[in-house]
Amino acid sequence: MARKVVAGNWKMNTFVSEGIELANKIKVADLPSDVDVILAAPYTHLYALQREIISYPVFIAAQNCHTHESGAFTGEISPIVLRDLGVTQVIIGHSERRSYFNESYEFLRDKMIAALKVGINPIFCCGEDLGIREAGKHKELIAEQIKSSLFQLSDSQVKKCIIAYEPVWAIGTGVTASPEQAQEMHAFIRSLVADKFGPEMAQNISILYGGSVKPGNAKELFSQPDVDGGLIGGAALDADSFLSIINSF
Ligand code: PGA
Repeated sequence: MARKVVAGNWKMNTFVSEGIELANKIKVADLPSDVDVILAAPYTHLYALQREIISYPVFIAAQNCHTHESGAFTGEISPIVLRDLGVTQVIIGHSERRSYFNESYEFLRDKMIAALKVGINPIFCCGEDLGIREAGKHKELIAEQIKSSLFQLSDSQVKKCIIAYEPVWAIGTGVTASPEQAQEMHAFIRSLVADKFGPEMAQNISILYGGSVKPGNAKELFSQPDVDGGLIGGAALDADSFLSIINSF
C-alpha cells in the first residue's frame, strides 16, 4: 500500500521568518497520522527550520540538489550538506528546473543517485506541457521522462522514491487536471513501474498529483485510486489551505 503524502513546494517564496511561521502553524495542527507531510522550503530556510521547528511527522525537503557532495561548483548545493541540515527528501526534475535550467535526463538521474547515496529520498517530477497534451503525446513523453531518469536507478533505490505527476499546463495556472485525467496518468505511471519493477513496487510507490491543487479540488483528486496525494505549490503558502488539503483524503 502506497503511503499518502502531501508535499508543499514553496518555490522561491517567503522570507525566512514567514517560512518558520508557516511551518509552525502546520506542525502544531492536528495532523492525520497516515499522511506524510513534507515542506520543500528554499535552501535559505532549511537551517532555521531544522533547528527551530521540524520533527516527525513533518519532514523537510529541498527543492533541488547537485550531483556532487563537494568541489568547484560555485553556487550549487551539496546533498550531504542538505542531509546534515536534516533534509529527508528532495524534489528532482520539477518542470521549472527542466525548462528554465535545461536539466537533462542524465543530470536528473545523477542527482537522484547522489541524494540517495546520502540518505535523502527523491520526489521525482514528470509532466507534459500543453502542446504535447494537445498533440496526444503525453503518455509517450511521461514514459520517456520516467524511463530515462528514474528507471536508470536500481530496485532498492526506486523503492525510496516518490513520483509526482505534474502537467505543466496545470502548474500555477488555476487550471487543474480533471480527476479522470489525473487518474488515467497515474494508472499509466503505475503500470510502467509494474512492468519494470514488478507489481509490489508499483503498489507501494506513492504517486502524487501536482498542478493547481486547492482545498476545493483536493478531495476529488485524492479519491482517485492511483492518486496517493499531492505536490502543492501556491496553496502550500497559506497554512489554512495547506492543512485543508492535508485533511482531504
Ligand atoms: P501549483 O504548483 O500548485 O501552484 O500549481 C505545483 C508545483 O509546481 O509543484
